[in-house]
Amino acid sequence: MPEDLVKLTIDGVPVGVPKGTLVIEAAKQAGVLVPHYCYHPGLPVAGVCRMYLVEIEKAPKLQIACATQVAEGMVVRTQTAEAKSARMGVLELLLINHPLDCPICDQSGECELQDFTFQEGRPATRYSPEYPKRFNPVEDFGPDVLYVPNRCILCTRCVRFMEDVAREPVLNVSERGDRAYIGVHPEARLDHPWAGNVVDLCPVGSLLSKDFLHKARAWELDKTASICSGCSQGCNVTLDTRDNVVVRIRPRPNLEVNQYFICDHGRMNYRWMNRGDRIEAPLVKRRGGGAELHVVDWDEALDRAAMVLRGARGRAVALVSPKASTEALFLARELLAPFEWTGAFQVVMGEEAPLAAVPNLALRAERAPNGTGAELLGYIRNYAAALEAAESAAVVLVLDEPETTVKTPGALLYLGTMLSDAARAADVVLPIANVAEEDGTFVNRDGRVQRYFQAKPPPGMARPAWWVLAELLAVLGRGEPVASASDAFDRLAQSVAPFAGLSYAALEMTGKQVAARPAPAAAEVTA
Ligand code: SF4
Ligand code: SF4
Ligand code: FES
Repeated sequence: MPEDLVKLTIDGVPVGVPKGTLVIEAAKQAGVLVPHYCYHPGLPVAGVCRMYLVEIEKAPKLQIACATQVAEGMVVRTQTAEAKSARMGVLELLLINHPLDCPICDQSGECELQDFTFQEGRPATRYSPEYPKRFNPVEDFGPDVLYVPNRCILCTRCVRFMEDVAREPVLNVSERGDRAYIGVHPEARLDHPWAGNVVDLCPVGSLLSKDFLHKARAWELDKTASICSGCSQGCNVTLDTRDNVVVRIRPRPNLEVNQYFICDHGRMNYRWMNRGDRIEAPLVKRRGGGAELHVVDWDEALDRAAMVLRGARGRAVALVSPKASTEALFLARELLAPFEWTGAFQVVMGEEAPLAAVPNLALRAERAPNGTGAELLGYIRNYAAALEAAESAAVVLVLDEPETTVKTPGALLYLGTMLSDAARAADVVLPIANVAEEDGTFVNRDGRVQRYFQAKPPPGMARPAWWVLAELLAVLGRGEPVASASDAFDRLAQSVAPFAGLSYAALEMTGKQVAARPAPAAAEVTA
């Protein structure tokens, strides 16, 4: 254990943590999780719920671990009879007015009141069944947030998020004692671009997402680590799927990128992942068969695409999406390497919306996740120039850009998810997976490469773009097919300098820097 760490024991487990660490965080390192409500690592400490009561040797009474800093030689006991009895008392108090509506509550299955009552609460209430519990009607707080006051345990996480993190203090604790409830400013709505985080922060089912309301029970959901594709920030998220349909996006902590939060734009950016009007099989125009596209199997489609590429001479153009994986962008570049080639991408722009108290975290104007990855691989932003170059190119490869209309005398290969009118002009159309249906990586605006994982199967015969491109290279005799996104990334790491030495294992769950961070804007420096 390094000398400069503060050493203490928690339930007999020795731990060493930096000076200033709170006992609650040190306990996590010792593998000890004690019930708590108001504490959240992304919010200022409030110490209002009085739940995380523990015994600390030499202290005259029980202490709250969320507001107590570690000290050298400290001995903390979380499971003594006195501490457990005190916590049981707090739970009993919280449950006096909490309704027993778990069977119809969206939070059921992921509710901290439910879990901790099961863990440490009284086996039964001491109140008469006739006791009239407090009742207040449900309130509409904002575009995606409902407030159910009966379930509120007044932990104030939502109030502190809006006040200290978003710095738009529209929520407060109104009234006092058993009449207290969360009030919203009479002339305001909970419509800040990052307001949806209050739903995640609420430990019970008091703040609910209208979008997710009654869509699924928590235990029906499969959870997959992913990266938000809503902008270039690269927030870490979890995709919740039910029966292979994405039904919710929630933040996944990454202190280097998004801390514990995501914006509402990213939160709602999932419906397109479930679209049913997808290309489900490879399509080709047969020689002498006119302008009609025919459904074929992968072997025939790849042979046809390879024939087109073998027969072409001169210039090639790639028009790619900045939502494509780094692996696919790399293999598309490899495919066109024998040609004199130009590659370009275009980005939809929107309004920037920072989260005030968190440095370098904002909904970015650039609404695409992998523009930096595309640039590192040599693609340019001048889409108009690439479209012009296509007019004299021998081959044009379009990667997941369904609305791009290409005028070219050459052959047109098209890898995409949708069969738009523009795509019908292609000689070969190859169906690919979307971000929820494949493994891959994106490089965010700060030059951090991060992995995302497959959450559901692609439709029909669609395959990840990296698989399609590697197969095509193999048919052309230029390398082996790849069995996984990890193999595709290894191939990229072997030939593109910024990625040298990296692998999926080395990226871990939170990513690694492959390029320098851009200098912060002047406003961020002074904030
Ligand atoms: S609404 Fe939820 S987050 Fe806000 S005070 Fe009540 S329990 Fe806490
Ligand atoms: S800031 Fe960007 S990456 Fe983060 S959640 Fe919002 S849209 Fe997604
Ligand atoms: S978690 Fe410590 S007082 Fe609420």
